Amino acid sequence: MALWGGRFEGGPNAEMQAFSESLDTDMLMWREDIAGSVAHVTMLGEVGLITAEEAETIRLGLSKVEADLDAGWVPGPELEDIHMAVETKLGEHIGALAGKLHTARSRNDQVATDVRLWLRARLDVLDEALTRVIGAICDRVEADGKTLVPGFTHLQRGQPIWLGHHLLAHAWSLARDRERVADVRKRVDRSPLGAAAMAGTPHPIDRARTAELMGFGAVVENAMDAVAARDHLIEAVSMCAITMVHLSRISEELVMWSSREFDWIRLGDAWSTGSSIMPQKRNPDAPELVRGKSGRVVGALNALITMTKGLPMAYNRDLQEDRTALFDAMHTTIACVSVIAGCFESMTVKGGPDLKGDFALTTELADFLAIKGVPFREAHHVAGGLVKQCEDRGISLAGLSLDDLRAAHPAFTAEAIAWLDPQAAVERRCSRGGTAWVEIERQLVLLRA
Ligand code: ARG
Repeated sequence: MALWGGRFEGGPNAEMQAFSESLDTDMLMWREDIAGSVAHVTMLGEVGLITAEEAETIRLGLSKVEADLDAGWVPGPELEDIHMAVETKLGEHIGALAGKLHTARSRNDQVATDVRLWLRARLDVLDEALTRVIGAICDRVEADGKTLVPGFTHLQRGQPIWLGHHLLAHAWSLARDRERVADVRKRVDRSPLGAAAMAGTPHPIDRARTAELMGFGAVVENAMDAVAARDHLIEAVSMCAITMVHLSRISEELVMWSSREFDWIRLGDAWSTGSSIMPQKRNPDAPELVRGKSGRVVGALNALITMTKGLPMAYNRDLQEDRTALFDAMHTTIACVSVIAGCFESMTVKGGPDLKGDFALTTELADFLAIKGVPFREAHHVAGGLVKQCEDRGISLAGLSLDDLRAAHPAFTAEAIAWLDPQAAVERRCSRGGTAWVEIERQLVLLRA
């Protein structure tokens, strides 16, 4: 009979049992369930709700259940969820005394506690993974950042930049993801244990003590909120979705850059795969999978936010569905961050396209005239006219002579030709956050800190 079976005559239909059990997902947080029970029973002993010996016996029993689970015990579906599985197994080890563990507790605050413990630990793992990928990008910038590439807008060549400038743009987005992890963690780090079903309990429990035993920074103040709130999960999964969008943008570029058309990079063997029919292939499956998995995580956010909308207070069984979304989103995001770190760690930068005379340098001509006092709008128009002239003559900017320039505008001097050097163009952009190498070095220091 189920632990809740007292008021029932018949057991649940087999289909209902299979439909309602959550053990597959719950098994990912059995350690947290036991940790919560250990804290609870310790507090029960301390406040005198059970004797010190009873508390010790239950704790010992819980460590046996832990050993069973460690050794591979898989609870059957009739046990419904991890909370009932652990308690039932505890009964097998210590007998009727196991029934005292659930004093002043409900599965509602228990599951809320387990999930917060689980999530808090995974946020720390995600933060480590993000730190690693940011470090890998910084290493790549230090090694290969001084590679000239076009910076794009609309995927059209815009202005020349150092590759390091481009890579650091991604590193900053991931640095903000770390800020988001830290922010979500503050709200996850509160203990719901002791809320019981939703109304609290008549027993003299000490919620601050269980919070302390589990290392929570605070207690969730309202018992109904403690069992019903899922906004911390929504926040965590939103944060994962944002990170996955960042990784997906990075992935798209890794895929493009490793194509023959770009040919800027070569992904390491360890992160590439071949084709079963085309022997020459070297496919960027790692970033492609990351790009694909971003859809899953965005989907998890959608699932979670939709399932909680319109739920009446307090606990509803709908909430059991929260973990499939949360666990999958966290697992997927952590794995993807780590895979992208691997890609950056192992890739080779082959170089960018030749930018000598490229139209990506046209802004230099306009900026040159602006420095000579020509209003920028006029300078822009003159430079645009020179591009048109080049197109008509079938030449690049490098094909223009000083006479051509001077014919377009008398403010051009011989110096203007030197301005068309791509590297000089990049190094001139030394405004704060610009692509000049000094600015890249300044950002590297900030990101490393
Ligand atoms: N397995 C349940 C869940 O995951 C535990 C809470 C059950 N509470 C209840 N009132 N049926 O949400």
